[in-house]
Amino acid sequence: MNTLEAITTRRSVRRFADQPVEREQIEAIVSAASYAPTWKNTQTARYVAVTDPDAREKIAAEMLPSFNAAIVRSAPVLIAMVTQTGRSGYERDGSFTTKKEDRWQYFDAGIACQTFCLAAHEMGLGTVIMGIYDEDKLAAFLGLGEDQVLTALIALGYPDETPVCPKRKGVSDLLRYL
Ligand SMILES: Cc1cc2nc3c(=O)[nH]c(=O)nc-3n(C[C@H](O)[C@H](O)[C@H](O)COP(=O)(O)O)c2cc1C
Repeated sequence: MNTLEAITTRRSVRRFADQPVEREQIEAIVSAASYAPTWKNTQTARYVAVTDPDAREKIAAEMLPSFNAAIVRSAPVLIAMVTQTGRSGYERDGSFTTKKEDRWQYFDAGIACQTFCLAAHEMGLGTVIMGIYDEDKLAAFLGLGEDQVLTALIALGYPDETPVCPKRKGVSDLLRYL
């Protein structure tokens, strides 16, 4: 699959086959995502792979709205994307480099997240990014440190559906020249 094909054919998958994902596959995807560009090469993305069914069920039952709980119940793996705080957007002396302050860490996380999803797609695996969850409860359950923030969840598994592509805006709406 070439890069443009991967970008355009990746879809958010919300229903997964009853087929396990091997640890080697998860590790290969995380390795690919480590090549995402980051602020001053700070590489602040971390991943918690929730493969234990009881842990996923607890998350689904207690920390997610029903529409995301159904996805997590279907997926064999739930990835919690975590960011190490206090690095992206900062100078060495601890001051912010730009007026975006530390929001660059979410920029970095987004690039890593999409790189993760594209790498999974290349391996025949489906993903959906989820941004709606009880952040405080999940951070405590995952045992995140004071210097970590939960940036997103990603469900991962073999697709059991072929979603149609939601409509995209045309280039004339997206681009202007100066
Ligand atoms: C930051 C972010 C948060 C999202 N949160 C959710 C979510 O909580 N639940 C869900 O089902 N999809 C979620 N999505 C998936 C989007 O709905 C999906 O990417 C969009 O509809 C375009 O579809 P496509 O990914 O198939 O191209 C999220 C996507 C992003 C980038």
